[in-house]
Amino acid sequence: MQSKIANSIFVISLAVLAACTLPKSSVPSTRDAEIDALINQMTLEEKAGQMTQINLDVVCEGGIYNLVEPHHIDEAKLRNALLKYHVGSVLNCGGHAYPREQWLNIIGKIQQVASTETRMKIPVIYGIDAIHGANYVMGSTLFPQPIAQAATFNKEAVKEAGRITAYETRAAGMDWNFSPVLDVARQPLWSRVFETYGEDQLVCATLGSAAIEGYQGNNTGNDIDKQHVAACMKHFLGYSGSRTGKDRTPAYIPEIMLREIYLPPFKRAVETGALTVMINSGEVNGIPVHANKAILTDLLRNELRFEGLAVTDWEDVMKLRDNHKVASDLKEATYMAVEAGIDMCMVPNDFSFTEHLISLVKEGRIKESRLNESVYRILWVKKKLGILKNPLVPSVQDFPDFASEKHQQHAREVALESITLLNNSSYTLPLKRDLNLFVTGPASNSMTMLNGAWTRTWQGVDPKWDDTTKFTIAEALKKYTSGNVVQSDGVTAEKPFFSDLDLKKTSEADVVVLCVGDGPSTEIPGNISSLELPDYQMNYAKTLLALNKPVILVLVSNRPLIVRDIADKCAAVIQAYQPGDYGGEALAKVIFGLHNPTGRLPYTYPRYSGELIWYDHKNTETFDTNFGHKGFNPQWEFGHGLSYGKVGCTNVKLSKNKIAKGENISASCEITNESDLPVNYTVLLFARDEVASITPSVKKLIAFEKVNVPAHSKVNTSIPVLFEKLGFVGADMQHTVEPGMFTIMLENQEMPLEYAP
Ligand code: BGC
Ligand code: BGC
Repeated sequence: MQSKIANSIFVISLAVLAACTLPKSSVPSTRDAEIDALINQMTLEEKAGQMTQINLDVVCEGGIYNLVEPHHIDEAKLRNALLKYHVGSVLNCGGHAYPREQWLNIIGKIQQVASTETRMKIPVIYGIDAIHGANYVMGSTLFPQPIAQAATFNKEAVKEAGRITAYETRAAGMDWNFSPVLDVARQPLWSRVFETYGEDQLVCATLGSAAIEGYQGNNTGNDIDKQHVAACMKHFLGYSGSRTGKDRTPAYIPEIMLREIYLPPFKRAVETGALTVMINSGEVNGIPVHANKAILTDLLRNELRFEGLAVTDWEDVMKLRDNHKVASDLKEATYMAVEAGIDMCMVPNDFSFTEHLISLVKEGRIKESRLNESVYRILWVKKKLGILKNPLVPSVQDFPDFASEKHQQHAREVALESITLLNNSSYTLPLKRDLNLFVTGPASNSMTMLNGAWTRTWQGVDPKWDDTTKFTIAEALKKYTSGNVVQSDGVTAEKPFFSDLDLKKTSEADVVVLCVGDGPSTEIPGNISSLELPDYQMNYAKTLLALNKPVILVLVSNRPLIVRDIADKCAAVIQAYQPGDYGGEALAKVIFGLHNPTGRLPYTYPRYSGELIWYDHKNTETFDTNFGHKGFNPQWEFGHGLSYGKVGCTNVKLSKNKIAKGENISASCEITNESDLPVNYTVLLFARDEVASITPSVKKLIAFEKVNVPAHSKVNTSIPVLFEKLGFVGADMQHTVEPGMFTIMLENQEMPLEYAP
């Protein structure tokens, strides 16, 4: 792999030079004199410190993971970190969210010492995971998780959510967001599926880049203003592809797939101007990525031409020794990571990295010029953020729009647009607003289930942090109906057995709304051993179905949980993902028909745990045991999602049926909405290469658009068919479009297209 990547880089760089079209990079190639002057004055110790990132716990009163409440800076510890170790960055909260005032106080102290007491007076850059809103700032606007945002297929909506998140993060004095996750979710078992934009690389690239534009604002050549933050594309590369789906376990990804599936979102993000990147904590093809020069230098720097800051993930230098066992001690681990290409180490709980790095330079094993490269990138990001000159934290009054009605309204709209109606075969939905409902299941009355992980705490499990002014599903249903609503969890993870008492509560109900799913979790705590809906929930569902009342199944989940045994027996099935603070209201509006749902699945929803077949599978994957073509039989397909009433796409046409090399043509269609409500319709355009030198996929997404269609009307739209999107990564690792026949697909309509060069 190492040599192959190196070879292909050689070929690609020649091709690139010949074409003279170097991709846009995030840092201008001209040197910045001010930064060079700073580096010239810095000592070795100051440079190693700049490359060090510590956890907030290290400078607060109390023990690590055990701080004194309310969390506050311990000035002696802070001075030790900044004056003795010259630390360049701090991250995280001490385990839970703080009000804005507390953040400003904490970061204000850090910046004050950094910018007035240190010799170089260089402020720190403060990093935080604000993945669905500024989730570690109390009272901030909470959006649906990225997987739900993906279900909107709406890049403007994702960009605006990013802008609001940046504003509310900066309002608390933080300037660096460890988001977006650009990992393509090809392993449904993975605990971080909800943090991604789903299974398709084009969706991940498009929406990931939209989020970056929202976070960073208009970043082309300009500085980032005080209302935006630096984005961090993560986790480079191949993190989501682990074999077993368990977090941080080995991935075996052939280079052709690495380039076809996992790389495009990062390539696009670099072109968009993402300022920073975080490295994959796992291993790919036997090499931990933190020690993989082919990925971190040859691919990221030389080929993608990324010039921003590369930070490790949490404790990942240490993990080269402790978990991956490729380094016998920490000094060796430090050597490996720096030589591979990292700029900053998220140590984060001690100064071991700093000390070892200094020794390695003194011993002559790492050149000081290597440190200069990383320090340059770090200072460049700080300069771009405007904190080099003006690190002063704002006051609360400077951000009047924090959690404003306008911001909350956007979270409401994204939640509404994400809700995905999977099944409504008997037209039970929408419900009349005077029916009696029994609302039950572990997600029926839980804000934590709606919000998921990274909500006020890392795992997001403690209801103590819930905003009680927001509505759970049951509360929201009550708000919108004159019927009687009875709620009971029935079962929870802690109480997996339901009582007869619960079942008695159903007696008056006309309809049962059953809200199931997996609780909030992420990373290793979110590992699961089976994709099936947990037994206790499945048994409960079957008991409720046996009552012979219509059951509306609402899925509130981190990832697609298998519901084969009940899916068709339920009157309707809704995928809510983890829709955030406004998810309860959004569901109520969909259930009662106040909103016409248009969300679409951003992944294939499997029917069997042994059949995890991607939407863009190969032709051979469709064979069934009778040699028919029923072998691909997911519960619901990628892109599936229903609306109420007659809503759909007709009159599909291609502007031409022949395409020349480099030519871009278009497909057009008419979208009809015969319902009483407007819809924001998603058009998904797929292509199939009929015959190709690398076995072609049965279909691949090549473009998508959102189109507003008012009630009872028709709208014509056109969508580009870009020549380059007809291609694939060939055996030589280069993107290629091969001549021959293609089929372009829009909904159920297929059109032939010929490429004859
Ligand atoms: C990090 C985890 C870490 C935890 C400790 C989280 O923000 O993502 O990796 O273990 O904090 O509190
Ligand atoms: C996670 C990252 C996160 C970091 C900081 C790690 O455990 O993998 O995604 O940004 O912690 O909290």
